[in-house]
Amino acid sequence: MERTASGHEYKVKDMLQADFGRLEIELAEDQMPALMSCRSVFGPSQPLKGARITGSLHMTIQTAVLIETLTTLGAEVRWCSGNIFSTQDHAAAAIARDSAAVFAWKGETPQEYWWCIKRALDWGLGGGPDLIVDDGGDATLLIHEGVKAEEAYRNTGRLPDPPSTDKAEFQIVLTIIRDGMKTDPKRYHKMKERLVGVSEATTTAVERLYRMQANGTLLFPAINVNDSITQSKFQNLCGCRPSGPDGLMMATDVEIAGKVAVVCGYGDVGKDRAAALKQAGARVILTEIDPICALQALMEGIQVLTLEDVVSEADIFVTATGNRDIITVDHIRKMKNNAIVCNIGRFNNAIDMPGLENFPGVKRFTTNPQTDRWVFPDTESGVIVLAEGRLVNLGRAASHPNLATSCSFTNHAIAQLELWMERHTGKYEKKVYVLPKHLDEKVASLHLGKLGAKLTELSKEHAD
Ligand code: NAD
Ligand code: ADE
Repeated sequence: MERTASGHEYKVKDMLQADFGRLEIELAEDQMPALMSCRSVFGPSQPLKGARITGSLHMTIQTAVLIETLTTLGAEVRWCSGNIFSTQDHAAAAIARDSAAVFAWKGETPQEYWWCIKRALDWGLGGGPDLIVDDGGDATLLIHEGVKAEEAYRNTGRLPDPPSTDKAEFQIVLTIIRDGMKTDPKRYHKMKERLVGVSEATTTAVERLYRMQANGTLLFPAINVNDSITQSKFQNLCGCRPSGPDGLMMATDVEIAGKVAVVCGYGDVGKDRAAALKQAGARVILTEIDPICALQALMEGIQVLTLEDVVSEADIFVTATGNRDIITVDHIRKMKNNAIVCNIGRFNNAIDMPGLENFPGVKRFTTNPQTDRWVFPDTESGVIVLAEGRLVNLGRAASHPNLATSCSFTNHAIAQLELWMERHTGKYEKKVYVLPKHLDEKVASLHLGKLGAKLTELSKEHAD
């Protein structure tokens, strides 16, 4: 870890990329009007002055505009990424040099990834952050697991035992917590006490928050920005459209037209992926468990089958369910030579990567970064897996476009402001909240001018 002249701690790949990052941040600012408007409206009154914000969200150029909006509003910020492959190193360098503490680089190991989250949460002797911006819930998870482990230690004297779980990533989480407890066995309790709340953006992590609320285990208030319309219908439903095919083509040079592409899951993200593949000329087939989503797909002219029906015929497989074990190693064994397999869901358990990696005699050939051809010994046949089964649009392409991200990130900024301004009023309990509809409309309206739209005003008669 190093420190800039202005005192920001950082660990990024290459500080020499900071000027390049700054140029792209300036281009993105022009395309993110609602965030920029937050700066001009709220900046002068510094409403976030005194707030320490930790962000765990893909460290991209668009995220840089969010971070600098939060600092313009007065916050102090520490940041890490939401995925081992999603950081844009020039964005990380520019932010580390100019605005905030950053711990993120493209191609972290899972151990490094969790180290970065720990560093972003660690505000020194004074404890943790006041607010968290989360995308995927990993910072939230570390605190919840840390508190659980500290309580167990206090009651039984036992430290976390990483081999007690067979989940490789969770072993890392337990190791980080265990090692930290040797120097401070109350670290996460202190964080929990200080925390005012979290804003969370992604579907699967929001589902976890609701589950914690129902169990009574949620430790601080949460604002679910995923269910703001300006998030779900722009970030999820249109956000992946360019980056989905872009990721496939950049990785493999594949001609999508004429291919058979299977999309698993027809929620917001699956709809977006299916539309993009259709537009690129693929024949799309869908798998679903939900009859309504299945009917929606049929009405769009998309066939609905099971994975078993199509596994040996399709050329491209994309999982977009947010669920686990969607494509197993048995499915992969049945695929055509050089079928392409990827996941756009938030977590890395949709495709059975451990099953593939541990298949006896399987060989891995990396054709370019985050693109691996896996060849089975008996058939000499191989499949191409992108971004090691992790979310492909951020791992293997330039993620969501500015405007979709601007909607999403403005919701985060408003949620952070709301939590901070109401911190002493008791308005927010240890529950999950959504932003009111008028704020959603405000976020949308702040983008209209940029796109040359003029809104018709509702007359009193029509309103009545
Ligand atoms: P969603 O809940 O709207 O849709 C998921 C769909 O998958 C549902 O229709 C569900 O019925 C279906 N499904 C569940 N299990 C299935 C199974 N076993 N087989 C087939 N279908 C199944 O969720 P969403 O908003 O579309 O998000 C999907 C995932 O993408 C989540 O993990 C979310 O966090 C993530 N996400 C990623 C990005 C990105 O940039 N990569 C952006 C937004 C959301
Ligand atoms: N999620 C999807 N696209 C993103 C982007 N461009 N930056 C940060 N998070 C994202």
